[in-house]
Amino acid sequence: MSMPLSATLPGGSGRRFSPAGVRAGAPLSRIQGADDALRLVAVPLAEAEHTLLGLVHSDVAAVPTVAGYLAASGGKRLRPALTALGALTIGFEGRLPKLMCVGELIHLGSLLHDDVVDEGELRRGKATAHRVYGNAVTILTGDFCLARAVWLASEEGGHLAVTALARAVTEMAEGEVLQLQREGDLSCGRAQYFEVINKKSAALIAWSCAAAAYAAGDAPAAAALEKYGRGVGVAFQIADDILDYHSGTGKNEGIDLQQRKVTLPLLYAFEHLPQLRATLEERPLEADEIDGWIRQIRACGALEQARADARREIQAALEALEELPEGLGREALGVLGEHLVERVR
Ligand code: IPE
Ligand code: IPE
Ligand code: MG
Ligand code: MG
Repeated sequence: MSMPLSATLPGGSGRRFSPAGVRAGAPLSRIQGADDALRLVAVPLAEAEHTLLGLVHSDVAAVPTVAGYLAASGGKRLRPALTALGALTIGFEGRLPKLMCVGELIHLGSLLHDDVVDEGELRRGKATAHRVYGNAVTILTGDFCLARAVWLASEEGGHLAVTALARAVTEMAEGEVLQLQREGDLSCGRAQYFEVINKKSAALIAWSCAAAAYAAGDAPAAAALEKYGRGVGVAFQIADDILDYHSGTGKNEGIDLQQRKVTLPLLYAFEHLPQLRATLEERPLEADEIDGWIRQIRACGALEQARADARREIQAALEALEELPEGLGREALGVLGEHLVERVR
């Protein structure tokens, strides 16, 4: 499969988060940045990448066409990377690459569905699957990806892993439905926002972190990794919501604002721009109003306020790592978590 896996992450250091682009290289004694963290698991990441397209094979030709289209479009492969680092942290000795693909398969299914619901036109820098192939086959292929992932989790991870995954996917569906119902409801505040992102994004990221611990039957390690992953997942989604006000992400800019999704940056923006709130309470923005409001939201400090909250989430997540064995794996999870929240693209 092609491996255009260089979606950009972090801001601060300006480094790129590109799991499959990182080579194993010489053994590391310290983790100094996200690249070092990913280098630790470069070998299983390359194997998982190789495995992924095979997992969406089906004799029903439309399935690998649609799923393969999204899978081969790139993406950060964050969930497989987290599974590999969680495994390294607990000294997991089982088979890894297929287990790593479970989180990515669920993610693929959720993106196929999400882009239909959000009417997204751009994903991973390309036209969204539903734009190319139509809504019906895209939704059904999303179902295939979800089901294939659950099957795989049962084969590779066993009872604990598949049960926890089923719970996470249930939460994801709830989160997406809640968000849909709350679109345009400006009475929603922080509590409702955090409820949605915890379910729609953090649940799967948490499972991905803990997957190997589930497979090993190590419940205390799974609990600590889940806790870390929840915090990372929440912070990661806040960063995604900040990126809605930026171009060059490979996704549509301003789509959340256009759809009146009450995200954390928007909640902060309301404190500075009461006229924006008053307008959105009344009606969606016109196409020619969006750019002007995006500029004002960027300038008013709301994005920095949201990022400060994301940093606090990460700091809390890092505390959960203390319950896990010390070592390079744990160090890498810490460094990667801090790095993810600073991403600017
Ligand atoms: C996008 O996830 C959806 C969210 C949960 C924010 P990613 O930002 O991990 O998407 P890809 O895999 O890199 O395309
Ligand atoms: C993503 O939420 C959540 C899932 C895919 C389940 P968003 O709607 O914010 O993600 P993007 O911005 O489209 O990637
Ligand atoms: Mg979306
Ligand atoms: Mg988004």
